[in-house]
Amino acid sequence: MKATNRRWQNHLRAKGPIPFFLDRLQSHVFSTGWQFGNGSFHFPIIDRERDDELTKAYFEMTERFPYEFHIELTNHCNLNCKMCARPSMTRTKGFMTNEMFKRIIDEITEKMPYAYIHYYGIGEPLVDKRLFEKLEYARSKNIVNSVLFTNGQLLDVKDNLERLANSGVAVLGVDLDGFTEEVYSRIRVGGKFSLAKSGIEKLYAYIRANHLRTRVEIAYQVYPGINEQDIPPFIEWCEQYDYEYKLVNMHTWGGLRDDIPASDLNGLEDMHHKTRTGPCPALWNCFFIAWDGRVALCFADADLREVMGDVNSESIEDIWTGKHLGKRRKHLDGIYDGLCAGCSSQSAIKVPAMLHPEKNTS
Ligand SMILES: C[S@@+](CC[C@H](N)C(=O)[O-])C[C@H]1O[C@@H](n2cnc3c(N)ncnc32)[C@H](O)[C@@H]1O
Ligand code: SF4
Repeated sequence: MKATNRRWQNHLRAKGPIPFFLDRLQSHVFSTGWQFGNGSFHFPIIDRERDDELTKAYFEMTERFPYEFHIELTNHCNLNCKMCARPSMTRTKGFMTNEMFKRIIDEITEKMPYAYIHYYGIGEPLVDKRLFEKLEYARSKNIVNSVLFTNGQLLDVKDNLERLANSGVAVLGVDLDGFTEEVYSRIRVGGKFSLAKSGIEKLYAYIRANHLRTRVEIAYQVYPGINEQDIPPFIEWCEQYDYEYKLVNMHTWGGLRDDIPASDLNGLEDMHHKTRTGPCPALWNCFFIAWDGRVALCFADADLREVMGDVNSESIEDIWTGKHLGKRRKHLDGIYDGLCAGCSSQSAIKVPAMLHPEKNTS
C-alpha cells in the first residue's frame, strides 16, 4: 500500500471518522507547502478554490470557539534541546493542576466535542507525575481527537509505555532527531538515543501485539549541518519496520530563538512576515494554554510575550472572541505587529471573503 494511504488509514483508525474528517477539513483550509509538505498528515486537494464551501464551513465552525488546542501540562523538561524555545524562556516553570485541566476539558467537551487537543506545550509531558490522571479524565469525557508528543526518554520507565498506549490519546508522537548516540545528543542535549529508539520499538511492539488503534508517529527535527547525515539510516529503519515518520523543519519560536541562524531554517526564513501576503493561519487554528492558565497568541509564543487571556478568570470562548479576535482582525487589515512582527514560524493563508468582505473579493 502507498505510504500516504496507510497513514490516512492509521489516522482514521486512531481517531474515528468525525475527527478524521475535521482534520481533513482543517488541512484543506490551512495546508501550505512548507507546513505539511513533508508531514505524514497532508491532505492536498488539487486545484481547489480556497474560498469554497468547505473553507467557509471551517471558519463558521471556529467562529465562536477554537478547534485546535495546545494544553501545556508542564514547561519542566528532562532535556535541553538545541532548537527548543526553553533556553530563551523566562516565564516560571510549573505543572498544570488537575482542577484547571478538568475545567478546560469540560468547556471544550461542551462547546467543541471533537476538538483537536495537543497534550503538550514547551516541556515534557511525561515529567508530569499527574499526567495519567489528566488523560484518564479526558478519556472519561470522550475526548478522542488528541496527540501527545514526547522526547521518548521516559517511555520505557515503569509502566509508562502501556499506560500511554491505553490512555485514549489517539496519536503518540516521539522525537528521534538522529540515528547515532553522537548525533542525537548534539540536538537532544542530555538525552540518550538508545532510550528513545528502544522506547519507540517497544511502543510499536506493544500496540501491534494488542491490536490497539493508537497511532505512533516519529518526528525527525532536521537541524542543517548537525543531523542531516543520519536521515537516510533513520528512514531505512522506519521503512524496514513500517514505522510512521515525518521530517520537521525548524522555526525560531516567533523570533524568540533569533540566535538560530536563518541558514538553519531550511528556507523558512524566505516565507516569513517579510514576504507575508496575508493573515497567519495560527490565529485561526491554534489556542495555546500554558500550564498556569494564561493563553498565548499561538504555539510559537513559547514565552507568552503576547498574552490573550487567562482561563483562571475567563472562559475559552470569551478569550477567543475577545483579544484573539482583535488580533485576527489586525491581520485581516494587514497589520502584523507585536510578536507577529518578528515571527519566522508561519506563512500566510488566504481567508474567505466572508471574514473580510470589503478587502477580500476572491
Ligand atoms: C516543544 S516540544 C514539547 C514536547 C516534548 N518535550 C518533545 O520534545 O516532543 C514539541 C515539539 O516541538 C518541536 N520543536 C522544538 N524546537 C523546535 C523548533 N525550533 N522548530 C520546530 N519544532 C521544534 C520538538 O521537536 C517537538 O516535536
Ligand atoms: S524540545 Fe521537548 S524535550 Fe526538548 S527541551 Fe524542548 S520541551 Fe524539552
